[in-house]
Amino acid sequence: MKYDVKDLGLAGAGKNRIEWADKDMPVLRLIRERFEKEKPLNGAKLAACLHVTSETANLMRTLKAGGAEVVLCASNPLSTQDDVAASLVKDYEIPVFAIKGEDDKTYYEHIHAALDFHPEITMDDGADLVSVLHTDRVDQVGDIIGGTEETTTGVIRLKSMAEQGVLRYPIIAVNDAQTKHFFDNRYGTGQSTLDGIMRATNILLAGRTLVVTGYGWCGRGVAMRAGGMGANVVVVEINPLKAIEAVMDGYRVMPSIEAAKIADIWVTVTGNLHVIDRAHFDAMKDGAIIANSGHFNVEINIAALEEMAESRREVRNFVEEFLMKDGRRIYLLADGRLVNLAAAEGHPASVMDMSFANQALAAELMLKEAKNLKKDVIGVPTDIDQEIARLKLASMGIDIDVLTEEQYKYLHSWEMGT
Ligand code: ADE
Repeated sequence: MKYDVKDLGLAGAGKNRIEWADKDMPVLRLIRERFEKEKPLNGAKLAACLHVTSETANLMRTLKAGGAEVVLCASNPLSTQDDVAASLVKDYEIPVFAIKGEDDKTYYEHIHAALDFHPEITMDDGADLVSVLHTDRVDQVGDIIGGTEETTTGVIRLKSMAEQGVLRYPIIAVNDAQTKHFFDNRYGTGQSTLDGIMRATNILLAGRTLVVTGYGWCGRGVAMRAGGMGANVVVVEINPLKAIEAVMDGYRVMPSIEAAKIADIWVTVTGNLHVIDRAHFDAMKDGAIIANSGHFNVEINIAALEEMAESRREVRNFVEEFLMKDGRRIYLLADGRLVNLAAAEGHPASVMDMSFANQALAAELMLKEAKNLKKDVIGVPTDIDQEIARLKLASMGIDIDVLTEEQYKYLHSWEMGT
């Protein structure tokens, strides 16, 4: 079996962490038990480009239990958990190509290595696998029947491919399931981003001004959790609807250049380019901390910061100090990459349970339905979404009501008014 991981000797620790995460993934476990019996993915070759974490390991186990031949590469150079990668290879016989801290060249070599397995299904987080298939490996794209995509940034890229008519196979946007973005993006990113910032810096959030740029589901989660820990939260937005929502949620909203002057900690979660740029670096206070939790490391203009700084040095793991020409210091976390996965462990298993239940069921659906689907970005069917929510509630021991017949009729009629 071909693979490329840091050190197989780490497998023992990785297996413990995979099993620890599994305890909090009851929905995925139920799917795995069914997959073991029914083998709905029998013989399918699936290449996954995901963050290599203990939660992802449990998804890979589930797909393999369903009969798929799986291969895994990293969807970010800094998010790999090397012990988990080792255990997947050694204990679960799943080929993995991922090493934490790999350079960009190795990152892409690993994507190519996964494609060398000649998959028929792709599972992506950020659409790098799809992008490589549609550019460098077009000879293989005809072998692919369909794919799935995990994250907002990936869905945006894929929709732009579909609009331009270049997307060559159907892809299910797992991110757009309600049981994904309402929970993973909001509660997962909210908690894990602060976890990453705190593990990297050990700063107290209470009493600090924390700026969040982007008030999508991730930004809402970061703002909510930072406020809960006593930070004074400021939101920066370009969308008036999201901005008014942030105002009514109780946050101060202002232009980024104003926020730059008061930020103690600044988190970007926009999916866009250079949302912290030269003018902001010029305006920032001495000691300001900047971090990104959006998918790519493009949100902070690091090249500009480097150019503007007198010197740059690592002062703690995942903390770099940029000494500006006027003596101010700006601290960049995790090289502008996803701080929650680079400096912490990503979203907790309990929330990835629903995201990855969607992935497993989307892969099963794709295998059955690919020939009936358009070469487009497709939503997760509502019945799958609802079933995952139902199973998650059941796993928590929570019952809910059902409509009475009278209520059902009322909701489906129009005659009755005041
Ligand atoms: N994305 C965010 N957190 C994650 C995790 N724990 N595993 C995989 N992908 C993630």
